[in-house]
Amino acid sequence: MTVFIRPARDADLPQIICVWQRNIRTANTAEDIAELFSQFKKFFFVASLHASTQEAERAEKAEGAAGGKAEIVGFVAGSVKEDCGEPQGHISGIAVEPAFRRRGIATALLKRCEEAFRREGFKRISLEVRPSNSAARSLYEKFGFKPAFVVRRYYADGEDALVYEKHI
Ligand SMILES: CC(C)(COP(=O)(O)OP(=O)(O)OC[C@H]1O[C@@H](n2cnc3c(N)ncnc32)[C@H](O)[C@@H]1OP(=O)(O)O)[C@@H](O)C(=O)NCCC(=O)NCCS
Repeated sequence: MTVFIRPARDADLPQIICVWQRNIRTANTAEDIAELFSQFKKFFFVASLHASTQEAERAEKAEGAAGGKAEIVGFVAGSVKEDCGEPQGHISGIAVEPAFRRRGIATALLKRCEEAFRREGFKRISLEVRPSNSAARSLYEKFGFKPAFVVRRYYADGEDALVYEKHI
């Protein structure tokens, strides 16, 4: 089996919602995620599972037909945040199914999202992470994000958020 990173399509949304809600400790409802997707689809990328590289390429060419049926094992949800009136890239969510972790999939998803932000002319990417989420913090730090500041009681359960930033 091979994992292929590609831009998200409308047909992927139900699976993105499932992967998000299964893997991220979040208060986001399916409606919140669908709203984010409709606004920022061009910054969403998915990791889809295929029998072979050739099959993945065929699915990619089929533009949504076969591609929409492939199993999604990870995604990144990029979005846009205003900072002093300047739009900047933001990572709203990223997750990889447990059986597919530690294979570089999240790193590959972040790379595609960063490229999309660069094409948009953004100079900075930010994100919030739970201080207790050591796997995600390691991922972000390895990818070049630096901790910038803390937002007290950011999450619905009262945990603080660490805000990370990366200049691109
Ligand atoms: C965080 C997460 C997305 C990482 O996905 P992944 O595909 O396993 O990440 P990668 O394979 O690209 O890892 C890249 C680097 O991140 C760090 N890392 C990833 N998972 C780690 C873990 N469990 N413990 C320590 N470091 C970890 C490592 O430095 C790793 O490099 P290495 O494997 O060469 O040591 C995944 O664990 C996940 O889905 N977690 C649940 C959802 C979540 O917490 N999302 C973030 C908040 S929105």
